[in-house]
Amino acid sequence: MAYFANRVVAITGAGAGIGRELALALAGDGALLALSDKSAQAVAETGKLCAALHSEPLVTTLDVTDRAAVLAHAAATVAHFGRVEALFNNAGILHVGGVAESPFRDFEQVMDVDFWGVVNGTKAFLPYLQAAERAHVVNMSSAFGLVGVAQHGPYNAAKFAVRGFTDSLRQDMRAAGGVVRVTGVYPGGVLTSIARSARVAPGIDAAAVARRFEERVARTGPAAAARTILRGAARGEAKVLVGLDALLVDLVTRITGSYHERVLDMVFRS
Ligand SMILES: NC(=O)c1ccc[n+]([C@@H]2O[C@H](COP(=O)([O-])OP(=O)(O)OC[C@H]3O[C@@H](n4cnc5c(N)ncnc54)[C@H](O)[C@@H]3O)[C@@H](O)[C@H]2O)c1
Repeated sequence: MAYFANRVVAITGAGAGIGRELALALAGDGALLALSDKSAQAVAETGKLCAALHSEPLVTTLDVTDRAAVLAHAAATVAHFGRVEALFNNAGILHVGGVAESPFRDFEQVMDVDFWGVVNGTKAFLPYLQAAERAHVVNMSSAFGLVGVAQHGPYNAAKFAVRGFTDSLRQDMRAAGGVVRVTGVYPGGVLTSIARSARVAPGIDAAAVARRFEERVARTGPAAAARTILRGAARGEAKVLVGLDALLVDLVTRITGSYHERVLDMVFRS
């Protein structure tokens, strides 16, 4: 039987991309799903696709930056299913732009969704997860949570913050008895709508960003990404790298130390 069968699993940002594929894979595995997304229409569509796989998800319109709503969603999930055993803090946005050109508001917006969204979700669900026999928190960072790159200051900052938060949480949970296992996920380029809906700093050509991402960066499909994430989460892995590009970034940053910027520049420019 699949690991998540009959477990109650909450997924944020379940209306598109990796979140939707996580939902479909988990529905196929017989998990009980609490799906949420900022877009009511998108999450309703994911709900319908899951229902076609004989899953009856709880579908909620939820902005992860709205702390009160996230707290209410966690309570509503437990009221509906009686328990919750896994949380995938997946909702996120991409931002492209240099530090000098990006207004403060861009930094705040990316931190609100990509970092505070993860904190809000984790703290809202944690009391219920700790009451389970075994539970999981799975936080989406990025390969850009492993390496800083030009033109990604706000996104790098948020994804590095998620990594530190996740690593600290894991050790807290281990010290608390190991009921809650904590996984950080570091995808390379995954072919989703993330670049099409990215925020960009003034002067950046949004259409060119999306084109470059889709033609040159995104090498992994979202369904394959979801499978890799679920396998790692089920094993309780601390760190899940998604795609060869993420594996390469991780290896190069660890092996070459402070030279990694030059090495990665050569690899990705070629
Ligand atoms: N696609 C990639 O290449 C890639 C690489 C590394 C990390 N990631 C991370 O994976 C996660 C999923 O990304 P994706 O590629 O599937 O993106 P996507 O844009 O395809 O889907 C993201 C979903 O999150 C939702 N969302 C956005 N802001 C929200 C908010 N404030 N509250 C609730 N929902 C919100 C969107 O409506 C959308 O349905 C993100 O955290 C992203 O940073 C993606």
